[in-house]
Amino acid sequence: MGDPDLSAPAPAWWQTGVLYQIYPRSFADSDGDGVGDLRGIAQRLDYVAGLGVDAIWLSPIYPSPMADFGYDIADYTDVDPLFGTLDDLDALVADAHARGLRVILDLVPNHSSDDHPWFAEARASRDNPRRDWYIWHDGRGDGRPPNNWESLFGGPAWEWDEATGQFYLHLFSRKQPDLNWRNPGVRTAMYDVMRFWLDRGIDGFRIDVLWLLVKDEAFGDNPPLKPRAEGELEVGRYEMPAFEDLPETREIAREMRAISDEYDDRVLIGEIYLPLERLVAYYGEQLDGIQLPFNFGLVTTPRLAAESIRAIVDAYEAALPEGAWPNWVLGNHDVPRIATRIGPERARLAQMLLLTLRGTPTVYYGDELGMPDVKIPPELVVDPAAAGGRSRDGARTPMQWDAGPNAGFAHEGAQPWLPLAPDFAERNVAAELADPRSPLALFRTLLRVRDEHAPLVLGSYRSLDIEGGGLFAFVREQDGERVLVALNFGRDASVADLGAAGAAGSIVCATGLDREGRVDLARLPLGAGEGLVVRVD
Ligand code: GLC
Repeated sequence: MGDPDLSAPAPAWWQTGVLYQIYPRSFADSDGDGVGDLRGIAQRLDYVAGLGVDAIWLSPIYPSPMADFGYDIADYTDVDPLFGTLDDLDALVADAHARGLRVILDLVPNHSSDDHPWFAEARASRDNPRRDWYIWHDGRGDGRPPNNWESLFGGPAWEWDEATGQFYLHLFSRKQPDLNWRNPGVRTAMYDVMRFWLDRGIDGFRIDVLWLLVKDEAFGDNPPLKPRAEGELEVGRYEMPAFEDLPETREIAREMRAISDEYDDRVLIGEIYLPLERLVAYYGEQLDGIQLPFNFGLVTTPRLAAESIRAIVDAYEAALPEGAWPNWVLGNHDVPRIATRIGPERARLAQMLLLTLRGTPTVYYGDELGMPDVKIPPELVVDPAAAGGRSRDGARTPMQWDAGPNAGFAHEGAQPWLPLAPDFAERNVAAELADPRSPLALFRTLLRVRDEHAPLVLGSYRSLDIEGGGLFAFVREQDGERVLVALNFGRDASVADLGAAGAAGSIVCATGLDREGRVDLARLPLGAGEGLVVRVD
């Protein structure tokens, strides 16, 4: 049991809360242009708050030519007319706050749009004072780029600039020139951008491409790709030591944290695809880095099976520095949806996993409905990453609100920017709210169960050894209250001995509706694909 530790600081909202990612183009279109917008989001806030989540993270809403759908920013301190106005954003933030929802924006510091005035100046001449805000280099002769660095979207990361006779670097599309983070002016400008939004009441940032911000000044070639360990990201044909996780990048994470700490109660979340030991370094040696370096272990693993999940969770728990707060992600706008990766039934189990593991969960819009990827006909593919063979469009399709025209995403007659799912008439918010067996009903129950059972939020984590394969089970415990989560990822039904968690308990949530009541933990039957949350006596 033990007395509560009165010296421990109260947990922050981003530790106890659940984050919900909205891809603004695809959530709700209020004006009929086929692209979602801020007013659309505002009109759907009751739904979001009703889910029981605590914060929304908006993918970029800034002025942009949309070469990478907003991740190419032409003005860091305004809103693109496609999404609305600054006033609309202020109104959305006020409406969200009134419902107890925080608002997190996407910060994209690695690159701007080539339409940004900074880049116009930089490319105007070699001696322009902004030249060095971007990364320019001479070629190797005969039109060959400076080195073998590749764009993460495929092809060389260098674009020739005829007017000034040098190449500029773009780790993504050529419409996204990389900013030079070794230039103090760039740092100051981006920190001012942060303050601009924090002053407006934004609750934090998800920082795009944080792990690639600083580039090696030697500009040497990257070595060829080594075989990947389980869970590591594989992009392109080369390792990326020349620009991946340079020591200066961690220093920038600390500087950003210092800015955000000028304000109360804000959070920084980082997009970082690195092996565990290097990922957790972004918490900072004194926990003075970012609060939540995104943990993509469940996203990048090629197999979501019981054994691999246990290995991922246990390794992550063991790697976390003292005092660092964990977090989990199942999907985002860059990867196939969970229902497509593991199928609709297993996606229910994965949802139970995400919402019961120790740490802050981030939910991708539509995953609560069990939305799978939509097959996009080749002529309708719009993602710039498709050039490298990996279109992300299928995971970005319009939210399915109801069985009406355009699934309630946009007015009748509007043309959504990406096709709707063929099954939207059955799989939508209205239908799922009415169906106690729906993924949405399970999702809402899980969030309620989190609220009602403190160990699921702040309790310790311990995985269980189980005879036979297929099952992943763990115990969450706090102040003598114990909750068991048992997930059968296997193909067969089984009767598990989970006596190590306790003798008996009561089911508080089940992926299938027909399970409730008391259970004997030494002989716990679990169907294939079945998951249970049990309050242990
Ligand atoms: C991040 C974003 C992705 C974008 C890329 C370039 O990985 O999540 O959508 O294309 O950065 O900004």
